[in-house]
Amino acid sequence: MKGVRNMDALAFKQKKKSGWSIEESKELYGIQNWGAEYFDISDEGNIVIKAPFESSKVAVPILDIVEGMQERGMEMPTVLRVANLLDDRIKSLNESFHRAIEEYDYQNVYRGVFPIKVNQQCHVIEEVADFGVAYNHGFEAGSKAELIIAITKLKDEKSLIICNGNKDSEFIELGLYAKEMGIKCFFVIETLTELPTILECSRRLGIEPLLGVRVRSTVKVDGHWNNNSGDRSIFGLSTTFLIQMVEDLKQAGMLHCLQLLHCHLGSQIPNIRSIRSGVLETCRFYIGLVEEGAPMGYLDLGGGLAIDYEGLRENRTHSMNYEMDEYCVNIVETITESLDPLNIKHPVIVTESGRSIVASSSLLIFNILDVRDHRPVPLPAKLPEDHHELLANLWEVNEIINDKNFHTCYNDALHYRDELRHQFYLGQISLSNVAIGDNLTLSVLDKVAGFASKRERVPEELENLSELLSDVYYGNFSLFQSLPDVWAIDQVLPVMPIHRLNEEPTREAIIADITCDCDGKIDLFTTPDGIKSAIPLHTLKDDEEYYLAVFLVGAYQETLGDLHNLFGDTNVVSVKIHEDGTFSFEKEFHGDSIADVLSYVEYDTKIMTEEFRKSCENAVREGRITAPRRKQMMKAFKESLDGYTYFEKEEY
Ligand SMILES: Cc1ncc(COP(=O)(O)O)c(C=O)c1O
Repeated sequence: MKGVRNMDALAFKQKKKSGWSIEESKELYGIQNWGAEYFDISDEGNIVIKAPFESSKVAVPILDIVEGMQERGMEMPTVLRVANLLDDRIKSLNESFHRAIEEYDYQNVYRGVFPIKVNQQCHVIEEVADFGVAYNHGFEAGSKAELIIAITKLKDEKSLIICNGNKDSEFIELGLYAKEMGIKCFFVIETLTELPTILECSRRLGIEPLLGVRVRSTVKVDGHWNNNSGDRSIFGLSTTFLIQMVEDLKQAGMLHCLQLLHCHLGSQIPNIRSIRSGVLETCRFYIGLVEEGAPMGYLDLGGGLAIDYEGLRENRTHSMNYEMDEYCVNIVETITESLDPLNIKHPVIVTESGRSIVASSSLLIFNILDVRDHRPVPLPAKLPEDHHELLANLWEVNEIINDKNFHTCYNDALHYRDELRHQFYLGQISLSNVAIGDNLTLSVLDKVAGFASKRERVPEELENLSELLSDVYYGNFSLFQSLPDVWAIDQVLPVMPIHRLNEEPTREAIIADITCDCDGKIDLFTTPDGIKSAIPLHTLKDDEEYYLAVFLVGAYQETLGDLHNLFGDTNVVSVKIHEDGTFSFEKEFHGDSIADVLSYVEYDTKIMTEEFRKSCENAVREGRITAPRRKQMMKAFKESLDGYTYFEKEEY
C-alpha cells in the first residue's frame, strides 16, 4: 500500500506542471487520506467543511467562517468547533455498533459513554448530551468535578454514567444520590481500598450501589499509550485482588451489586489485532466473574478507538489499520464467540470512546505573522579587499560546485565555515567577514540541496538537507496552550493552509509559534509519503493574511494546554452548518485577557495598576514626562490588561 503511494507521489512530482491545480494540493497535503470524510478543497482553492445531512453533504469554506469571525471581532488564533461533525461521530459510532449487533444477532444493546476528560468544555459536553439522547449516549467521569458535569448535563435516563478514578466518600455520595434519582451511575472499583468506603456510604445512605470493577489486562497493545495494559499497568485489579474483591462483596452480602467489568487497554490503539486480543481476554475475566456468582450484565471496553491523524491506514502510532465498522464488528464477534459456547447472556456493550468522537470536530486556525527565509541574500560581485583567506576558499567552492562534485563541496564548505567561526571566537576575524562567510555557506548548501534532489540515491548525510534549509513561518498561536501533545509526545496532526490551494506552494517550511521557546514549533507533518519535517507553504502577500489550520485537535488539546509565556486560552467559536449552506455562530468565547492570565498566576491587577500609576506620577513630579503623557500611558496600560494575549493587528 505504501509502495503504491510512493509511486503515485513520484508520478505526481514528475508530471510536467502547467499552473497548479487543486488536485495537486490534495495530493501534496494528503487531505483525502486524513480528512476525506469532513474536509475537501473547493474549485476556488479553499478548504471546505463537509457537513453531513440525510440527503447529501453541504460544503462551507473555512475562510468564509474566518471572515465572519473577524466581522464579529474574533481575532486569530481561534479554535473552531463544528457541531455537525461532533454529532456525526456520535451517530456513526452508535450506528456502526447497531449494524454489528444486527449482523451477529447479538442479544443486547450498545451504550456509549463520552469520557469528559477528553474535552470538558461546556459546549462540547452539552452538544454530546443533546445529540446523544437519540442514542442513549452517556458520560464517563474520572473525578468529582466531572461527575457533577455528568449528573447535571445528562438528559436521558437510559444513558449510563461510569465513574472511574479514585473515589472519596463525597464522590461516592454524589453518585449514590444520582442512582437514587434514577440515573444508571456505576462506580468502577479501581483499587481494593475503595470498596469499604463505597459499602460504608451505601449503608449510611441506604442506597445500593451499581458496581463495576476494572481489571488489569495482560495484553500489551501497540501505540503510545500502551502503559495502560500489561503486567506493569498502574490501573486495574490483578487477578489476585479481583478474587479478593469478590470475596469481600460476598461477605458483605453485596455481590449482587457487581454488574460491570471494565477494561481500558489504552488510547489511540493503532492495531485492530491488539484490540481483538484485549477484548478476548476481557471476556475471559467476564466469564470468570459470572462463574463466581456475580450477576454482571455490562462489559465496558474503555477507549482506544483511534483517529488516523496521518491518513496512512497503517499500524503506526498516529494512524490505525482499521475502520470504525471493523472495530465494532471485532468487538461484537469476539464477545459472541467467547460467551455463546458457555450460554452466558450477552452483556450491554459499553465503550468510552473519546478521541474518535471529538477529535475531528475542532480545528485551530491561526495567521502567519512573519517568515524567516533561509535563502542566501544576493552575493556581492566580488569579495571586499580586506577579506580573510578562508572567505576566498568559500567563494571558490561556491563557484566550482556542480552535479558531480557537490558532496565534496558540501564537506569543504562546512569545514571553511567552522574554521571561520573558530577564528571569530579567537577574535581574529571581523563580524562582517563572518556574515559574508555564513551567506556563502548558505549559497553552497542551497546548491547542494538542488543537486542532491535530482539524484536517485542521496548520501545519508544529505538526505534532510532541503528540510534543514527550510524557512520558518511564525504562527500566531502557542503550541503549549493549543497543541500540547505536539510538544509533549510528538503528536502528529494534519496542518495545511486553508486557502490559496489553487496556487503552487513554493517554499518549504517549519512552523514556529509565538512563544520564545525553541520547543514551540511544528516540524512533523503528515504527507502521503509519510512523516516529513517540513511542509510546502505559499509565499506571503503584502495585502493578504495567510491562514493555516491544524486539524483533528478536538481531543485532549484544549484541556491539557498550559500558560507557557502567559499565552492564555484562545478564542473559541462554535458553528452549526445548515442544510441550505448557511452557518450560524452558535457560541463564541473570548479567549483570556492579559488580566485573566495574570490572575491565574496570582497577580492582583488592581495593585499592579496602582504600582504603574505611582511610577508614572513620580516621573511627572521629576519632570521626566508630562501629565498628559501620564494620562496616555495609564490608558495604554489599562487597555493592555483587557487585551488578548496573542498578537493583535493594530487598528489606527
Ligand atoms: C478510562 C479511560 N476511558 C476512556 C479513555 C478515552 O480513550 P480514547 O480517547 O482513546 O477513546 C481514556 C483515555 O485514555 C481512559 O483513561
